Amino acid sequence: MAKLVGSLIIPKKRPVMKPIILSLAILFCSLHGYCQNIQVNIQANNPQQTINKHIYGHFAEHLGRCIYDGFWVDENLPVEKKDRIRLDIVKALKEINIPNLRWPGGCYADEYQWKSGIGIREKRPVTINSHWGGVVEDNSFGTHEFLELCELLECEPYISANVGSGTVYEMREWIEYLNFAGKSTLTETRAQNGKDKPWGVKFWGIGNESWGCGGDMTPEYYSNEYKRYQSYARNYSGNNLMKIACGPNIADYNWMEVCMKNIPNWMMWGISLHYYTIPTGDWGRKGSATQFDEKEYFNTMKNALYMEELLEKHTAIMDKYDPRRNVALVVDEWGIWTDVEPDTNPGFLYQQNSMRDALIAASTLNIFNKYSHRVRVANLAQTINVLQALILTEGEKMLLTPTYHIFNMYKVHHEAIMLPVQLGHHQYEVEENKIPALNASASKDKDGKIHVTIVNLDAKKNNIAEIAIDGATTKTINGEILTSSSFSDHNTFDQPGKVKPGKFDNIKKSNNKIIAELPPLSVVVLTIES
Ligand code: AHR
Repeated sequence: MAKLVGSLIIPKKRPVMKPIILSLAILFCSLHGYCQNIQVNIQANNPQQTINKHIYGHFAEHLGRCIYDGFWVDENLPVEKKDRIRLDIVKALKEINIPNLRWPGGCYADEYQWKSGIGIREKRPVTINSHWGGVVEDNSFGTHEFLELCELLECEPYISANVGSGTVYEMREWIEYLNFAGKSTLTETRAQNGKDKPWGVKFWGIGNESWGCGGDMTPEYYSNEYKRYQSYARNYSGNNLMKIACGPNIADYNWMEVCMKNIPNWMMWGISLHYYTIPTGDWGRKGSATQFDEKEYFNTMKNALYMEELLEKHTAIMDKYDPRRNVALVVDEWGIWTDVEPDTNPGFLYQQNSMRDALIAASTLNIFNKYSHRVRVANLAQTINVLQALILTEGEKMLLTPTYHIFNMYKVHHEAIMLPVQLGHHQYEVEENKIPALNASASKDKDGKIHVTIVNLDAKKNNIAEIAIDGATTKTINGEILTSSSFSDHNTFDQPGKVKPGKFDNIKKSNNKIIAELPPLSVVVLTIES
């Protein structure tokens, strides 16, 4: 049926030349070993849980140029602004349906004094950001500004409270200021500062990396602290907080075990996990964001895919103490962390973002979808100008990174029903080391459309996905692709559109299967209507 071939809705009279050429090309490349055929089985007849859109969340810390000179700019910068919030950035993030934004840190959260960030700006204290570059902080971006930003973005705020250097009382007061609808001295101050009604903030982190920059605690000590802090994290005016405990660093399974054992399920909505992909695996020399060879690319992808093992093992521990899966796993920091760009402040964590980053984002989001029975929130670090950013800015210029495009392509999975995916045998091999070449996830949205996101990590080979969908027929298929000839390709201010999505039409239908030929280093989204 000609209408199944190619992308978009295909006219019935479309010439059949293209599928024939595609079939010949596939035959040629399989015979010569340039590609492999990989079975992809999607169980549309076995729908699972809803994929929480908050898995697609983001993170903005007072770090480098994420807040200042990122979201929040000089009043004289010639860009469209609301107050000092950049509206071109707001528009770009609304386009990807940003579901939540985590703030003010990170490590910064555990030294943040919220009262420094309210009231008349000129009178706010000037403090020091001792974690990130030792720069002075004028506190011009505080509670009101952050929540105004979230209102503009139409996303949920996720606030991390200070446990490391703040008191229970200070945290309790912040919640009252944010969420109490009645009259108190604090809410009168809030009204004087321009906000009469409470915001109703829900996502509430209790400490960040309490095993490290958030206080160097043991899990036993932290569990007790968590219980104490959470007791005073009140549900003011009917606003139920979704309290998130500080969970483990990477593979610290003991931290997860102790916290899950010591903190009753009902006391926490979620528990966090932090994992960053370091290209070389060495924190002392992480590797460049744009200068790397295939071996380093391969190792980076291997390190990124380690997320799946972490989720498998941490969720197994959680299942032991919470078999009903009430407690969410909140991967509230993830992404690639490279060396900073040459000649930039090492404390600002500014790095470029390449096709490799896009492949990491796409693969990780596929993993999150798969584990969405437990992973209900995740936050990529960090939205603008820091680590694996969606957006880079230079003065009034801004560019969308390859990672941004992945979040735009993957928004089809928000609040859709996860469909299990099984992949046949396949691999990507470099110097006798192997990782799976493809990874994929699938979901069905409220209109009944099935979306399949497939990643080909292989840097040299085309891979042919032979997709069988159990329990659904296929009438039309649309395809979109993000790919580039090199893993290190990236967008610059001179060439902001070097890596950008395009139409994908290497699709045909054969024996009730969808055959999609994925070029090396590519991410494809298929929209299938029945
Ligand atoms: O995202 C940068 C830093 O990484 C965060 O501040 C901290 O939580 C983590 O170690």
